[in-house]
Amino acid sequence: MKLLEDDLFQKKMQKKVAEIEDVLKNFLPKEMSEQKTIFQAMEYSLMAGGKRLRPMLLQESYELFGGKEKEVVHAFMAAMEMIHTYSLVHDDLPAMDNDDYRRGKETTHKVFGEDMGILAGDALLNYAYETAVLGVEKAEKKEAPIQALSILAKKAGVFGMVGGQVVDVEQTGKPLTKEQLDFIYRLKTGALLEAALMAGAALAGAGKKEIQSLEEIGRNVGMAFQIQDDILDLTSTTKELGKPVLSDEKNEKTTYVLLYGMEKAKHAVEEYSNKALELLAGFPAESGYLNTLIVKLIHRKK
Ligand code: IPE
Ligand code: IPE
Ligand code: MG
Ligand code: MG
Ligand code: MG
Repeated sequence: MKLLEDDLFQKKMQKKVAEIEDVLKNFLPKEMSEQKTIFQAMEYSLMAGGKRLRPMLLQESYELFGGKEKEVVHAFMAAMEMIHTYSLVHDDLPAMDNDDYRRGKETTHKVFGEDMGILAGDALLNYAYETAVLGVEKAEKKEAPIQALSILAKKAGVFGMVGGQVVDVEQTGKPLTKEQLDFIYRLKTGALLEAALMAGAALAGAGKKEIQSLEEIGRNVGMAFQIQDDILDLTSTTKELGKPVLSDEKNEKTTYVLLYGMEKAKHAVEEYSNKALELLAGFPAESGYLNTLIVKLIHRKK
């Protein structure tokens, strides 16, 4: 398996994050009118920082399949991060996890009020589709971007992230079975990671089998990612994470760590990540960056 040296990887990652942030800035709405508060709240939440993992995965997967239309993939990367950011803004609301910090800053509803927090989430979600459709319009051939749009829409909705959040909220304070926990993680977190990898491949014209395989990679990365998120909720600091620690305990969430213990949880992060890497090895064009990214996520501190 090809892996990049740490220094080279860090350099590449910083460059990619900076490029993604430029893309996001360019796609944000520019005109300010009577409703300027919503533009400010959108920009506040979207540009607050964050790992930018989903647009990064979308771009990597697009390049893996030889995609060349920059304007098209950029629109989908921006849409992807807008959907993810909306999910965080709503996840932090008092009616949900009731958290005050996100990405190292006060949460959107804390700064702009709960009403604007709800609307900023709505706005980002809708604007994501406005942005993705721009990508479709820019594309030379429409079939691939329409497929990518369909993947994005489905994975964000009731059969994806929203569906997972529904069960997460409903089961709060209740003991969960392994199956229920897997269902929640696969949807609330896995779905958007699957979407990123699948949409990037679809955009570049990958075939059905390849897209299915990326879905499986995304599912494994998603499980590892959420279990690590639960671990960090217990072991990290608010300063390092940029969001409150012990949020799961406060909200009486049954997490992987609670169900299996810390050692098993850490082991599971490695196992799911290794499964993803094994599947990725089936794609010969991989430059090493994507492999290294998945390995680094196992030991991430935020
Ligand atoms: C947080 O996602 C929500 C989960 C699915 C655990 P990230 O950890 O990717 O958050 P940012 O984008 O870096 O802020
Ligand atoms: C969030 O799960 C998944 C989303 C769809 C936002 P968490 O509630 O554990 O995410 P954090 O820890 O607040 O980022
Ligand atoms: Mg939550
Ligand atoms: Mg939360
Ligand atoms: Mg969490």
